[in-house]
Amino acid sequence: LWGAEHSVAVLPRSETHYHVSLEILNHFHFSNLNLKLICLRLLFLFDYNLNDRLLLVNLETVSHLIFLTGCYSEDFGISCVRRNVARFIEERDGGIACDRENIYITNGATNGLQLILRLFEYGKGPSQTGVLVPVPSYTRFRLMVLEAGGVNVPYYLNEGHSWALDMTEMKRALKCAREHCSPKILYLINPGNPTGQVMSRKTMEGVIKFAAEEKLFLVADEVYQDQVFGDNCSFLSFKKVLFEMGSEYRDNVELVSLNSVSKAYLGECGFRCGYLETINIDPEAITQLRILITSSSFPSISGQIVLDILMKPPQPGEPSYEIFNKEKTFIMNTLARNSKLAVQTINALPGLRCNPIQASMFCYTRLELPSKALEQCKALDLYPGLFYCMQLLEETGIVLDPGTGFGENDGRDHIRYMNRPECFCCLEFQIYPKIVEALEAAEKFSKSLLAQRTPVTN
Ligand SMILES: Cc1ncc(COP(=O)(O)O)c(C=O)c1O
Repeated sequence: LWGAEHSVAVLPRSETHYHVSLEILNHFHFSNLNLKLICLRLLFLFDYNLNDRLLLVNLETVSHLIFLTGCYSEDFGISCVRRNVARFIEERDGGIACDRENIYITNGATNGLQLILRLFEYGKGPSQTGVLVPVPSYTRFRLMVLEAGGVNVPYYLNEGHSWALDMTEMKRALKCAREHCSPKILYLINPGNPTGQVMSRKTMEGVIKFAAEEKLFLVADEVYQDQVFGDNCSFLSFKKVLFEMGSEYRDNVELVSLNSVSKAYLGECGFRCGYLETINIDPEAITQLRILITSSSFPSISGQIVLDILMKPPQPGEPSYEIFNKEKTFIMNTLARNSKLAVQTINALPGLRCNPIQASMFCYTRLELPSKALEQCKALDLYPGLFYCMQLLEETGIVLDPGTGFGENDGRDHIRYMNRPECFCCLEFQIYPKIVEALEAAEKFSKSLLAQRTPVTN
């Protein structure tokens, strides 16, 4: 119970405490507390939006915080939040400089991607702008390309090689695309959704050299950067690799990197906040970007507060560090354990197979249905992946995504499991036994549906 002096009671429903940087709170000056507003906004901020988590602020700052969430922001984001983002990036990249002027706070990564796509002119026929997009990848981006007037140019990730990006395939995709459009943008997701793979430095260097040779604009979607848990693997940003490659690349390759509060250990996707960093971008394009941002709407203050929390988490020695670290470690360990369990369970079933997962929260699974079930799919005019998901939903209440939602139309069938406890299915799985229960139900269902088949081959 906090704030007795102000007659405001806040009852946390979980133990987590987050520390809000005081700079944000001092950014605006307000007076005259209004208790009704305080109550309403505390409820709004603490009870609903922070998803059971609690901001640890002292009473002095609570009043500022409350009023702060209801005001306008600077167009490119609150300047101290942009500065904290820049510091986070510098620390992440081992000291490579980051200027806050190159940081733009966005309404989530989706909005950042839309802004970048809108910097290009699209045209028609052979001059129509093409965007190289990984397959599998999540649907929304491909829709954004269409909405912008561009052409999606798929490059297929290599399932047989743990979903690695394959430069031979990338070159093939570009060559084919040049027969009907003009590819200018290369979109990369690292760590991957839905594949959960983490790119190696060697792969990233290959991509950067390719972009330099082919004059492609790189868009690095790095929203899962804080969600890496695979053995012996860690996240490297495209910026870091680029800056360690020599000046012909470091000073020339155009790169935009995106991050978001929607993922990582926070997972606060409802706040709609993220940022983009521009590197080597043409000054005219920057002017255009600034016009686009200024003419649209800035992210909410509460979203920017959450972003600030992600960028500047409690440090050792600070009051909330211990409890914050405990919760973060718990979340990361849970993800790692759930993904191992899911991979193990799935790979023991006939007709299903998935690669080990290094990051993010999905388990992208290859599906081969037995002939009887395939006949049913045909009769119902359903893709096998969709058929499997619908049957599973009806029989167990578990929701999975069919692979068709990830751009696959080459005859392979997949389904996507989610490993994050609360996302695994419709139910809220906060605790380990629940995910075990869900996997057991999925296992039982899969066994009965897939029993008569032989193991999947590549
Ligand atoms: C790779 C990737 N990028 C971006 C997004 C969207 O992020 P945001 O919620 O910040 O718009 C998602 C959401 O699933 C994603 O998987």
